[in-house]
Order: sequence, then structure tokens, then C-alpha cells
Amino acid sequence: MGKLAFIGGTGVYDPHILTDIRSERITTPYGEAAYEIGHYGSRDIIFLARHGVHHTIPPHKINYRANIYALKMLDVTAAVSTTAVGSLNPDFRPGDLVLIDQFIDMTKSREGTFFDGVHRGVAHIDMTDPYCPSLRSAVVEAGRKQGITVHDGGTYICTEGPRFETPAEIRAFRSWGADVVGMTNVPEAQLAREAEICYSTISMVTNFAAGMSSEPLTHSEVLECMNRNISHFQQIISVLASSYDTDRDCSCRHAASEFGGFRL
Ligand code: HPA
Repeated sequence: MGKLAFIGGTGVYDPHILTDIRSERITTPYGEAAYEIGHYGSRDIIFLARHGVHHTIPPHKINYRANIYALKMLDVTAAVSTTAVGSLNPDFRPGDLVLIDQFIDMTKSREGTFFDGVHRGVAHIDMTDPYCPSLRSAVVEAGRKQGITVHDGGTYICTEGPRFETPAEIRAFRSWGADVVGMTNVPEAQLAREAEICYSTISMVTNFAAGMSSEPLTHSEVLECMNRNISHFQQIISVLASSYDTDRDCSCRHAASEFGGFRL
């Protein structure tokens, strides 16, 4: 049976909902990845804290390739990640969850592909639907079942960080149609697609983006908002852990078929 993984972002470091948790490390061609494995009922679930359990890895230094490759080595077929985001859309307010369905990539220095002409050949993977539509709907449904407000759809703009944006950048990004801004979803989403893993992200709005409120932005405000609302992630994740069918066929699982598929 394919496994389900949760990738915890800022403020989500602990796989509370699991039992019999073990911390493990795995060596990939891209370096080591640390993760935890535990049970939810009779299922094995993987939890990976993207920034490390003590939030020591900044967004531009995360080894995204090792993390996603590790999930593939562990037989993960579906991964749900969490991200903290700033909102550029007045309808998306602090505390709200957004199930993003598009991204814009403004990162600068990240290893963003497995098909780098070194470890494997060159491939150009379709990103018309960058997030798995079936996993996205399962997350939206899980949220609604729990009475949690979830905005179904939104465009995420990924900045390089680790600094927050300038108000001028935010004005430009708004004019491009971005709804939320964060620092980690690229290249994670594209690597998951290359690795033929169904992938979806639950973004929590922790603040209005720079220049949209009269106050300067602080990292503690981001963490405080995450801590206040973390039970929403846990509720959604529990529903998925108990019911998501990780063996369902999906176009994500054939994303690299034109290039011979993604083999370990
Ligand atoms: N910008 C970038 N990343 C973020 C923000 C933001 O405003 N809030 C939470 N993560």
C-alpha cells in the first residue's frame, strides 16, 4: 500500500496525531533526509518537518530534492504539506486556510529538478495543474466536514526569502494575480510532480502581506497565528490519515511517463 506523508512547514513540527513514532534518517543521492514514521490506526504515516524540528533550516537552504526523493524511497504516493503565507487578497484573512491551485515562481537559487542532465536526463513536465486535483478536493472536503473554512483555490507566489517582501514587490505580485505569498512551495511542488507523487498544500494565512497593513511584519506574528489555529491542520490531517486512498490511480502518478517514468 502506498504511504501518505505530511510535510510540516513553519509552526508545524510535531506529528501529534500519530502513535508509535520513530525518528529516522535516510540517505538519498541528494543527501540525507530526516523524518518521522508513526501509525494512525493501522496505517504507517510519514511526517517530515521541512525546516527541521527546531526550525533551523531557512527556506532557501532546505534540501527539497533529498526530502522528496526520500518520500519516494519510502513508498509515499500522496503528500500533503502545510505552509504559512501572507495574504495579498483582502478576502483571505489571518487564520483562514487556502487550498492553492497555482503558483508563480520568484525563487532564485534552488535546485528545483531531478531531471538535471546529471542524475537523470532532461525532461519538461506538464504543470497545468501544479497541485493534485483529487488530493486537493479530499483536503477541501476534509476541512468542510470538520466545519473549517477553506478557500478552494488561489495563486501562491514563492519568494526566495528569508526576508519578507517589500510593499513594492507585493503591489507588483498583486497585479500579477497572486493571492498569497510564501517561501517554500517551489520547488517542493514541482519535485513532487517529477517524482510522480500526488501533492497538495494547505496554506494558512498568518498575516496580510507587507504594506497591506500599517504594521511591520514579524516572524513571531506568523508563529502566533499558526499556534492559535494549528488544530485546524490536525483535524484535516486526521481525516485524511483515516480515509485517503493512497493507491488510487491519478495522472500525477504518470507525470513523467513521456520520459520513461520516475525510477529510483
Ligand atoms: N511573506 C512570505 N512568507 C510568509 C509570509 C509573508 O508575508 N507570511 C508567512 N510566510
